[in-house]
Amino acid sequence: MSLLSDLSDRFGDAFETAGVERAAGLVLPSQRPELAQFQCNGALGAGKRTGRNPRELGQEVLASIGDRWMFASLEIAGPGFINIVVTDDCLADYAQAMADDERFAIAQPEHRWKVMVDYGGPNMSKSMHVGHLRASIIGESLKRLFRVAGHDVSGDIHMGDWGMPIGQLIIELERRQPDLPYFDESFTGPYPGESPVTLDDLSEMYPVVVERCRENPDEAERARQATFDLQNGRAGYLALWRHYRDVSVAEQKKDFADLGVEFDLWRGESTVHDRLAPLVERLAADGGLAEESDGAIVVYVDRPDDKKEMPPLLLTRSDGSYLYSTTDLATLEQRVEEGYDLMLYVVDARQGLHFEQVFRVARLSGIADDSVGLEHTAFGTVNGPDGKPFKTRKGGILRLADLMEIVTDAARERLEEAAIAQDYPPEERERIARQVGLGALKFGDLSNHRTSNYIFDLDRFTSFEGKTGPYLQYGAVRMKSILRRASELGLEPGPIMAPTVGQERDLILRLLRLPEVIERAVDVRAPNVLAEYAFEIATDFNRFYEACHILREEDPVRQASWLSLVDVTLRTLTLLLDILGIEIPDRM
Ligand code: ARG
Repeated sequence: MSLLSDLSDRFGDAFETAGVERAAGLVLPSQRPELAQFQCNGALGAGKRTGRNPRELGQEVLASIGDRWMFASLEIAGPGFINIVVTDDCLADYAQAMADDERFAIAQPEHRWKVMVDYGGPNMSKSMHVGHLRASIIGESLKRLFRVAGHDVSGDIHMGDWGMPIGQLIIELERRQPDLPYFDESFTGPYPGESPVTLDDLSEMYPVVVERCRENPDEAERARQATFDLQNGRAGYLALWRHYRDVSVAEQKKDFADLGVEFDLWRGESTVHDRLAPLVERLAADGGLAEESDGAIVVYVDRPDDKKEMPPLLLTRSDGSYLYSTTDLATLEQRVEEGYDLMLYVVDARQGLHFEQVFRVARLSGIADDSVGLEHTAFGTVNGPDGKPFKTRKGGILRLADLMEIVTDAARERLEEAAIAQDYPPEERERIARQVGLGALKFGDLSNHRTSNYIFDLDRFTSFEGKTGPYLQYGAVRMKSILRRASELGLEPGPIMAPTVGQERDLILRLLRLPEVIERAVDVRAPNVLAEYAFEIATDFNRFYEACHILREEDPVRQASWLSLVDVTLRTLTLLLDILGIEIPDRM
């Protein structure tokens, strides 16, 4: 159990004894740490509700409070706040319990969700670019966060592999190489095992054909027809689609591995193809939700109280082909059938309308009842220094692989400047540069609330000072090196003693907040809560380390206790950085 929840329990009991609901006993970290460590404000509200004087109610609560050994001082302040300071022995006990607990005192959740995190979402036949960065790293972080909190979590890449872009790439290849067997309807196979194109070819072809379809309605019509034929099983198109998919997935797997992003499921829009027709039929059946509109099938989802225009969700185009919305609805249905009861769609905020429509249809049709959580976990844009969406110098869209290269180069320069790791073997130096570059990139992103846009500021992100990934990595490496040096000197961590120094006490108080910080980050689905907390821990640790000269300490029992504190700090920071997807080098 965490210190904070135990304190809330004690106060809950005491409020109950005083005839007030236990919720009034909620204890929080103090807003004014110079006055107290914790506070309980319940007497104010409860006093107001019951017509009792809050200060008197507070006195009554204090008179019956249990486990007095925990408290160094309890005081009523102002109109009826209760200020709480716990004893140093109590802090030591809880710190020891945290150090001994594999789960760091993080409680198992009251309701264990079966969570689906839908993230990454690259599109087939296109290299990933900077726009996929946030979808990938925020999604990965939320997946890890929910897992640490004790939920049952899967991550699905939900690749865009079934829509119009594929039809467009089919007609573009046909234009360029009409003699390939994929386009010959009388061909009976087998089709070549080798892909006729590379991913670079596809990336080059795509904008060309998009432009042609924009200018020429006949071309657009052909692309639509090709998409329709693909979705209806035309053999040559399916064979070609497999090649497109294989070359795309090969590169994406590499990019994601480099980025440290791991999916449990590599499904795509095409996965639910067989569900599409029955789903649309069911929704369009007599008395169903769906209606025909100019040959298309749509579901009206607007409500009288809508503040914004809410267009209907399109289930099929007039030619009968399916859309992004159809595959999303069918995927949602599949996930409900598989027992997922919380779905987080980690997707750009600009898709808000799409998800609102899909979720409304899911509710209206009963595909997902109220027990299933459906959330668009939206995120903002990565902007360049000019405040506009991030582009390369030439104005092009930056590929994810190139972005990783850029941050690694920057990190390498920083390490050189600071003369860090310069005498290590070249491979190790390179690995550190990569870890620091990615740490900078991820922390630079995840330290912002996911819904805000932020400016990509390479200099600031890669600095070893300030609220940055490299600062935290360096801090953690320092903890590792203290423990290593201690062990070389034959010193071992020992039982955690009651703190005697302010900075030591502050660090312990900070560490003991971990369970509530995790809970809060889960509640708001926001990794920046963890980023902030990790920074506070690193800062508190530095102050502690300055005040307490661990390796020179003469009292061996005190010294062993401090080493344990270093160890539990390192493990906590490692856990937090791991949730953020940030690796810690062994040495620097
Ligand atoms: N492929 C989509 C895109 O690039 C993102 C997919 C997000 N997930 C989803 N279930 N719609 O916009």
